Amino acid sequence: MKHFLEISQISQDLALRLINRALFFKRTGEYPSYTGNTLANLFYENSTRTRISFELAAYKLGINTVNLDLNSSSEKKGEVVEDTIHTLAAMGVNLFVVRHTKNGFSQAIAGSVDEGSHIINAGDGTHSHPSQALLDFMTIVENKPNLKNLKIAIVGDILHSRVANSLQSLAVLLGIKELFLVAPEEWHPTSIQFGHLTTSLQEGLHNADIVVGLRVQKERLTANAQLNLASYKQNFGLTAQALTYAKSDAMIMHPGPINRGVEIDSDVADGENSYILKQVENGVFMRMAIIELLIAPQLSFKT
Ligand code: CP
Repeated sequence: MKHFLEISQISQDLALRLINRALFFKRTGEYPSYTGNTLANLFYENSTRTRISFELAAYKLGINTVNLDLNSSSEKKGEVVEDTIHTLAAMGVNLFVVRHTKNGFSQAIAGSVDEGSHIINAGDGTHSHPSQALLDFMTIVENKPNLKNLKIAIVGDILHSRVANSLQSLAVLLGIKELFLVAPEEWHPTSIQFGHLTTSLQEGLHNADIVVGLRVQKERLTANAQLNLASYKQNFGLTAQALTYAKSDAMIMHPGPINRGVEIDSDVADGENSYILKQVENGVFMRMAIIELLIAPQLSFKT
């Protein structure tokens, strides 16, 4: 694979291999060395988890990293991203981790880069966040490996969530039994890839094995006259009371960053069933597996 852009590119077999490879890295601490490669982080939108985890993943694989500071880069002088990438490639960068506010941004630039350059999509607009979905399913497989029996509930802004999109794609691919997408009517997409849309938190969480909260993008609430934070929290907030609908050992997940007291209460986010920091931990290993898939695919399936 030359570029890692979206879940629709990969097969079930490849998804499971990536998950197993990431679990192997985590379990053994055995990392191959891929010196001679250089990774650049190009983040046109804020990030803590994704950017730093790609940097740490590269470091563990012996790969140099550069972080383009877009506020002081020549793009401020009118250089277009394709020229930025060609310029960095001329200096030896061959892996480009790209996050952008525009849907399809990574996919568009992947068509115009040099032969030896690899684009990794680190989140494009409201469209997709494939490495997040893979690390989420790595975390699920690690704790509840019988995927075909699982009920997963995703709660929040389904309409604008790239994470919800990529999770739906991967849930189909991996044969998840049931997926519920819980959101206020205003945040129901007109079409979904997989699952049941509902406005009922009780229905969505009923007997769920996994509950994934999504960040409330506050600007979207203030822009919507029908919704406000108080009513959102009351009807869709992941509180200890709401989670009594789910199984007692339900995994509580969230891609982060979290809004404490809005989409999730602190006692839930920090509780014994929370896997939020496990997701962050696993993100480093999953991103190692993704980088390796692009630069050494023949070695990437040792588990
Ligand atoms: N989950 C996620 O993408 O977090 P960041 O925005 O901090 O990278």
